[in-house]
Amino acid sequence: MLVKAITGFQDILPDRAARFARLEKTARDVFARYAYREIRVPEMEYTELFARGIGQTTDIVEKEMFTLQDSKGRAMSLRPEGTAGVVRAFIENGLATQDPQARLFYMGAMFRHEKPQKGRFRQFHQIGAEAFGSEDALLDAEVIAMLMDILREADVPGLRLEINSIGDDDSRGRFRKALVEYFEKHRDRLCKDCLRRLDTNPMRLLDCKVESCIGIVRSAPTILPFLNDDCAAHFDSVQNYLRAFGVEFFVNERIVRGLDYYTRTAFEVTTDRLGAQNAVAGGGRYDGLVESLGGPKVPGIGFAIGMERVVELMAERDEDAAQTASIMLVPMDENARRVCVRLAAAIRARGASCLVGVDGRSVKAQMKKADRAGARFALVIGEKELEEKRVDVKDMGENRLAPDGITPEDLAEMFAGAMAESGSAS
Ligand code: HAM
Repeated sequence: MLVKAITGFQDILPDRAARFARLEKTARDVFARYAYREIRVPEMEYTELFARGIGQTTDIVEKEMFTLQDSKGRAMSLRPEGTAGVVRAFIENGLATQDPQARLFYMGAMFRHEKPQKGRFRQFHQIGAEAFGSEDALLDAEVIAMLMDILREADVPGLRLEINSIGDDDSRGRFRKALVEYFEKHRDRLCKDCLRRLDTNPMRLLDCKVESCIGIVRSAPTILPFLNDDCAAHFDSVQNYLRAFGVEFFVNERIVRGLDYYTRTAFEVTTDRLGAQNAVAGGGRYDGLVESLGGPKVPGIGFAIGMERVVELMAERDEDAAQTASIMLVPMDENARRVCVRLAAAIRARGASCLVGVDGRSVKAQMKKADRAGARFALVIGEKELEEKRVDVKDMGENRLAPDGITPEDLAEMFAGAMAESGSAS
């Protein structure tokens, strides 16, 4: 009996994988233009890193991590997001002092034990970026502009960027007090989790998904009136720079984000084409995170894009289809197979893709294979071709995957060369 994949863990089959690769390439191109460099960090970290980084009382840490213990009983978790690990690496490898303004990007699998549904998985992939070392609002706007460039260049339709400021500790302290006062008045209608959050982390009530709480949250105080002058001026600047970058945005005072490390700028990008799980990217500033994870006082800002959701929306392109080889070689007997192997090597050495028929199947079956592979040229090679030292190059049609810079005449010549090399020339 087949052992099936784990619930919420997906296979990404070749056609879809081609779209993932296309999105990755788009992102890499954009990152290069903004002078970001790649960082690769482990997919598993000590649980404590996420607890301290993302916040002990967030949903992610409280109930969504895949956790196991090492032989010494120390808890380790599959990463539910990328920021905490990147910040740890930034500190642990000395970047925080040697390259405090590092601009980094990453791509890879993340793991959250959420209830799977359309657009929500337990293993999913993110493309993320983190920029360290500056509190300048210009950087906030530039990070957001970069994110929107990636999404636009990936052809994601129906995008909406919403931004907010969730202030610094000082502003949030006063906001939290107002929230507690407000929610205390509605205590009897709050869910069990929210009653607990009221003591531990009142801001987390704002993204409760329980129906009865949502109604109460709708009229709760919002953060902007509680911002101190510095935070308000910073938020104003972010908006001005976004306009200068030509990025369209909406201020949404309800955005609080589900992770505790955020300070000041917070943002989310949604699309109107996805249904319930409509967030394609999210991010924000985290000026206290490096310090709280044991590093120097270095501010940071970043975002992550949910790749599955973006790929779902990317238009299909011909290049994603199952076109795999530009040239098909069909050998009819053992001698021909040897020549084909040489010829294939020569073709591949010139950078073109090539398939050699195997299993001695009929010419008809092999031509069918050439057709499915999308090959532009097919060469059937048998006794006659070897004797006459010439081969017909069959052109399978214009709309096929043509080999770069290799003409039918080149192929005929390469065939003669392969024959000479393999010693089957006589
Ligand atoms: P996040 O908002 O938790 O932020 O996740 C970013 C994106 O990942 C979401 O907008 C969504 O597209 C995708 N995503 C999240 N959970 C799932 C899931 N279960 N299935 C499919 N897609 C999902 C972060 O992770 C922060 N680390 C972003 C950040 C970087 N902030 C600063 N730097």
